[in-house]
Amino acid sequence: MKERIAQLKKEKNAVIMAHYYVPGEVQEIADYVGDSFALAKSAKNSDADIIVFCGVSFMGESAKILCPDKKVLMPDLTADCAMAHMVAPGKIAAMREQYEDLAVVCYINSTAELKCQSDVCVTSSNAVKIVRELPNQNIFFIPDRNLGRYVAEQVPEKNVILNDGCCPIHAELKAEQLLAAKAAHPEALVLSHPECEKEILDLSDYIGSTAGIINFAKKSEAKEFIICTEDGVAWQLQTDNPDKKFFFPEPSLCCKDMKRNTLERILAVLETEENEVEADPDRSKGALLPLDRMLELGK
Ligand code: 13P
Ligand code: SF4
Repeated sequence: MKERIAQLKKEKNAVIMAHYYVPGEVQEIADYVGDSFALAKSAKNSDADIIVFCGVSFMGESAKILCPDKKVLMPDLTADCAMAHMVAPGKIAAMREQYEDLAVVCYINSTAELKCQSDVCVTSSNAVKIVRELPNQNIFFIPDRNLGRYVAEQVPEKNVILNDGCCPIHAELKAEQLLAAKAAHPEALVLSHPECEKEILDLSDYIGSTAGIINFAKKSEAKEFIICTEDGVAWQLQTDNPDKKFFFPEPSLCCKDMKRNTLERILAVLETEENEVEADPDRSKGALLPLDRMLELGK
């Protein structure tokens, strides 16, 4: 299967982009593996004719918006991010009425419809930097209340208004589970994604995006780590650091949508060129502005 995928990629000038949460065997054959920010940049800079995007729908959609001339295929078009839809209709307009200088800051984990109504997109690796640099005093952060709260703590000079959305996967993780993992591995450093609840972040030694967690573990002199994010990151962590140990609080977090990206489905879309991501032209135009602004401010 891997040989056939490699052959088709060559024949069709296709590349495979994969998020750190997809199955390890998919990360292994991908041309680019990264966090949401790195993948958006790679899509924008790619000179391939076809991008097979192994992630969830907001990622494929963002890639299509950033490079409308390319064919973007997803191994499974039903792979979605529940959080991407979690802003109540009319909420953004209501906030804009209430605050004159409001900036709507939209986590990239959102639909194009939400991006269209926003001033700038962010990912977990650049949200603090971008919010700090915005000229606006009032920030409406959508959809993730956990990343929003973390940003508000890092940028206390701004008034960050939170929206009641969250990642249902990360929100599952409770302090007792992490405390049990810490008790079992007292020497381990705790590395957490900012989509986790405050009770987890308060117990963490490092907070960052998936790429941030992976880079931290690689550079650290510590030998043991407890990882508070989706278990797909284990593949890169273990590949980079065969001499280090990584533990996940039990039960580990698993995003079933990310796991829909299988080798079988990649091969099928490369063969048939089905599952093409379609983006509504008006919506794409509207969503491109905040995405481009993110790429500029996030540099
Ligand atoms: P990253 O931006 O850290 O890759 O996170 C994406 C995501 O979906 C986290 O749940
Ligand atoms: Fe969305 Fe959470 Fe899955 Fe990330 S882990 S894609 S935020 S549902």
